[in-house]
Amino acid sequence: MMAMENKNTGNTHCGCDPYLLSLVETKEGPTFKKASRSTGLLLASITGGAAIALSVVCYPFVSPALRRVVLPYVPASTKQVENVMKALSNSNMVGGRKMIDLGSGDGRIVLAAGQRGFQSHGVELNSVLVLYSKFTAWRQRIKNATFSRQDLFKVDYTKYNNIVIFGVEEMMPELEALFEKSLVSSSQVIACRFPFPNWKPSHVIGEGIDTVWVYEV
Ligand SMILES: C[S@@+](CC[C@H](N)C(=O)[O-])C[C@H]1O[C@@H](n2cnc3c(N)ncnc32)[C@H](O)[C@@H]1O
Repeated sequence: MMAMENKNTGNTHCGCDPYLLSLVETKEGPTFKKASRSTGLLLASITGGAAIALSVVCYPFVSPALRRVVLPYVPASTKQVENVMKALSNSNMVGGRKMIDLGSGDGRIVLAAGQRGFQSHGVELNSVLVLYSKFTAWRQRIKNATFSRQDLFKVDYTKYNNIVIFGVEEMMPELEALFEKSLVSSSQVIACRFPFPNWKPSHVIGEGIDTVWVYEV
């Protein structure tokens, strides 16, 4: 059999309407293809950039999970902050208006102590939280609240009379042993939510998850 040729189009393959064919050809022309390729590249760059930015912000929050002792970011409740402030105000330590919060999170305990006249410092591994805390101190004009990015296990505690820790149960024995070796006398240690396993607290403030144990060393 001979191949049928469409006389209107000269197209031996399909016999399509020439008007419809011209519409299709115009849309898929080189200009359209170039534009859709650059839109695709732009979208890919935006998505890729957003994914990288998100990973950079999230990494400091996820990385504590990769450490030997996992201490996640769980901010203290308002009641818990109040209980820590009560413990600090009862403090009768010699030269006792210096405090440190080990793992200071968004800085709420350090800022609250700073507002009450304590020379207060927070150490925190998460650089985003350190930046945020510094920004809040600057915005609220609390000059005696300072922050640094530091590992709480490598801090010189001897400069502080009040030490606050909101840790996890697993780290308390190790921390207790560390404090026994390094703390100067007349220091007060305030443990939030989890007590030390062997020390006897001088008093306990609050109840449930907001409990605070106060130890005089
Ligand atoms: C339970 S949160 C307490 C936050 C803050 N103290 C509060 O009461 O709101 C513990 C904090 O310790 C930080 N952290 C975990 N491991 C740490 C380490 N080795 N050194 C310093 N900070 C650490 C976490 O990033 C988290 O922000």
